[in-house]
Amino acid sequence: MAQKTLLVTGGAGFIGSAVVRQLINNHDYRVVNIDKLTYAGNLESLKEVSSNPRYHFEQVDICDKENISRIFNRYQPVGILHLAAESHVDRSIVGPGEFIQTNIVGTYNLLECAKEYYNQLADKTLFKFVHISTDEVFGSLGDTGYFSETTAYNPRSPYSSSKASSDMLVRAWYHTYNLPVVITNCTNNYGPYHFPEKLIPLIINNALAGKALPIYGKGDNVRDWLYVEDHARGIILAYEKGQLGESYCIGGHNEKTNLEVVQTICKILDELKPKVDKASYTSQITYVTDRAGHDYRYAMDPTKIQSELGWQPQENFDSGIKKTVEWYLDNHEWVEHVLSCEYQQWVQKNYDNRC
Ligand code: NAD
Ligand code: DAU
Repeated sequence: MAQKTLLVTGGAGFIGSAVVRQLINNHDYRVVNIDKLTYAGNLESLKEVSSNPRYHFEQVDICDKENISRIFNRYQPVGILHLAAESHVDRSIVGPGEFIQTNIVGTYNLLECAKEYYNQLADKTLFKFVHISTDEVFGSLGDTGYFSETTAYNPRSPYSSSKASSDMLVRAWYHTYNLPVVITNCTNNYGPYHFPEKLIPLIINNALAGKALPIYGKGDNVRDWLYVEDHARGIILAYEKGQLGESYCIGGHNEKTNLEVVQTICKILDELKPKVDKASYTSQITYVTDRAGHDYRYAMDPTKIQSELGWQPQENFDSGIKKTVEWYLDNHEWVEHVLSCEYQQWVQKNYDNRC
């Protein structure tokens, strides 16, 4: 039987690269990674699979209709896993334009190209468009309760609004044009190859560099953390077994306040890489101005994907965070390489709380 091809958008990013590595290492798909290589995309994250003959790379913007259509026609995929996005809430507050362009217009363009391709397929049974979204589309929780597939959308940042918009477009292409789609909404991911603008890798790298560990507000905001490899398995499962037109919430019940997360990282570093002066890394914690419109709490009920698709996370926060800190200690070169001049200039211009 001919090898099945999957397109993966955003495969040079944090979660996309985990998906591509799993598809090549643990499955038999041919994989075409479509990535524009923004500041957040880095091919070094794919080093271990890039010479595999089943791996292909196309440096293309998802908004580029001509090239996306060319890719569909050339590779004849059985599905597309759509992860490409502008993903950082802070950047969406400073400059929402790129979020509108990539997350909304880019998704629209992919849907149109997928629709044209799907409509001319002789065997329509195999194709699926999997759209990767976030728990942030549901808004912000108080101290109790969980998001689930039936929670009403209530996005509150430019990032989450752009993701919610893209989810709505995906649903519309299913209902209006019968495009076979599945949506996943996941909680905060962490793990290897996470771009060091996000809380966990930022704290690890700032700690090691002797810099301030910036905590927004009082550090009492809550996030529900999932190890990235568990999310990647959920995405592949959603492609292979997900019901058309359905969405699946993914999360592992690992709620932590931001302060707890930072203190845990400091404790692990105190053991693995004690500071020369023997002080704890917690001495670098600095409380800074809060994020505008900062969502208080996210927490997910993953019952549906567990009971219907048989997904279970393999890591809990204690095991996953230890692995993550160890990975950053062993892969400092990756961090140095991904921190482009463009990114560092952006940080200097836009944050008043980094030193
Ligand atoms: P990331 O920022 O690490 O990676 C995004 C990738 O998309 C990069 O490789 C970038 O080069 C590429 N990209 C950006 N704009 C593009 C464009 N116009 N055309 C082609 N490629 C483009 O993001 P991530 O954290 O890996 O998130 C991946 C997806 O998962 C996103 O859709 C995000 O909304 C979603 N998500 C992320 C999390 C999380 O905690 N990181 C949780 C839930 C859902
Ligand atoms: O919930 C899923 C979302 O998780 C994804 O959709 C997003 O793409 C992803 O970036 C992430 O969004 P968050 O805003 O939750 O992640 P971030 O790592 O930016 O922040 C996590 C928490 O830590 C949040 O409450 C803000 C806080 N924070 C963040 C940074 C960067 C700090 O206190 N200090 C910081 O320096």
